[in-house]
Amino acid sequence: MKNQKIIIIGGGVIGLGIGWQLAKAGADVTIHERAEVGRGASWAAGGMLGPIAEAHIDELDLLKLSNQSLDRYPEWVDELEAETDMRIGYRAEGTLIIGIQPDDKYQLEHAYNLYNDLGLNVEWLSGDEARKIEGALSPYVTAAIRCETDHQVDNRLMTQALKRAYEARGGEMHHNSPVKKIVIENGNVRGVQTLEGFQSADVCILAAGCWSGQIDGLPETIIPPVRPVKGQMLALQMRKDMMISNVIRTVKARYPMPVYLVPRRDGRLVVGATTEEMGFDTDLNVGGIYELLHGAFEAVPGIYELPLIETWSGLRPGSSDNAPILGKTPVENLIYATGHYRNGILLTPITAYEVSKLILTGETPDTIAPFHIDRFSKE
Ligand code: FAD
Ligand code: GLY
Repeated sequence: MKNQKIIIIGGGVIGLGIGWQLAKAGADVTIHERAEVGRGASWAAGGMLGPIAEAHIDELDLLKLSNQSLDRYPEWVDELEAETDMRIGYRAEGTLIIGIQPDDKYQLEHAYNLYNDLGLNVEWLSGDEARKIEGALSPYVTAAIRCETDHQVDNRLMTQALKRAYEARGGEMHHNSPVKKIVIENGNVRGVQTLEGFQSADVCILAAGCWSGQIDGLPETIIPPVRPVKGQMLALQMRKDMMISNVIRTVKARYPMPVYLVPRRDGRLVVGATTEEMGFDTDLNVGGIYELLHGAFEAVPGIYELPLIETWSGLRPGSSDNAPILGKTPVENLIYATGHYRNGILLTPITAYEVSKLILTGETPDTIAPFHIDRFSKE
């Protein structure tokens, strides 16, 4: 595929990651980004690399893929940092899932048993043991699960680094260049229609996040079932006497809303996130921000004094089974890399390595085979 013209639709971590790997292999790649590169979900995310904390009993293929991607993170970070001379804020301190109210302990035990059944690397801690690790935790924390291998990365830095690495390898970038239509003839992709007119391509990769189902030209049967799932977020500025270093998450299915706190190396403390089915609406509201602050305050009361430095929201590309849609489609040379929902930052390395391998060799790697679009037509 080396001399073929490849077009990628979408300049988030997924499009950039695949583009970088392809450009590195000497391919002729162009990314068309509707607006500004890296300002979609990839910018809004928390950056948690949390296969365990996000594990679900009904999503075992996704858990396997997530673990495979996490395993490749150190190599990914080394490669990206070496090529760009940037640091992307990878932190390996781990994650504490905490219980606060008596009911949370029951939820935690349930999660702990599930993780053990799945063979995941977790440790049960009492409240005091958890506070020995993170002194700022509330005195009301009754127990915790330590997930030492659930790490984090600064997704905004990673996105900037990917753009730099992609361009340094000769990848072409078109900002403010929405793809209006994917042009298909006789079952083959021919290129895309942009504001500048028709751009021919031998291979097209659809990596347009939650907008992936909105581009004209796709046969009805293969429109990716991807929808926007809004998440409101905020950031606080930690102080020397109020620093945390692990990712802290409250248990799922709790009231008030479960939250996560993600401490960055520069002292920012990212708090997220709501999960809202609101279409393409990205407005922030008092309820969302209140719930986040309430949940974060219950977990770490010391945040009360910290400056609130940013609020934002983003749209997760949610697929109908929460797993990404990867690989070949019934249209020759049209490749999907979308629908990464809550785990797109975690899944970037495996997506980039394996989708670029597919394009360069023509063979679908076993890793991504369960994630074809055809799984939806089989249902
Ligand atoms: P995006 O980053 O949205 O990029 C898609 C790009 O395509 C956009 O830039 C868009 O402008 C462009 N585009 C759309 N239509 C067109 C078109 N027609 N033509 C050209 N370009 C187009 N994941 C984790 O792993 N860990 C987390 O902690 C985490 N937290 C999250 C918190 C929030 C609040 C949100 C919203 C997401 C979170 N995620 C997390 C999920 C993760 O951010 C996404 O799964 C991932 O960023 C998806 O990357 P993407 O490149 O597919 O999408
Ligand atoms: N994975 C965290 C989120 O989607 O909010």
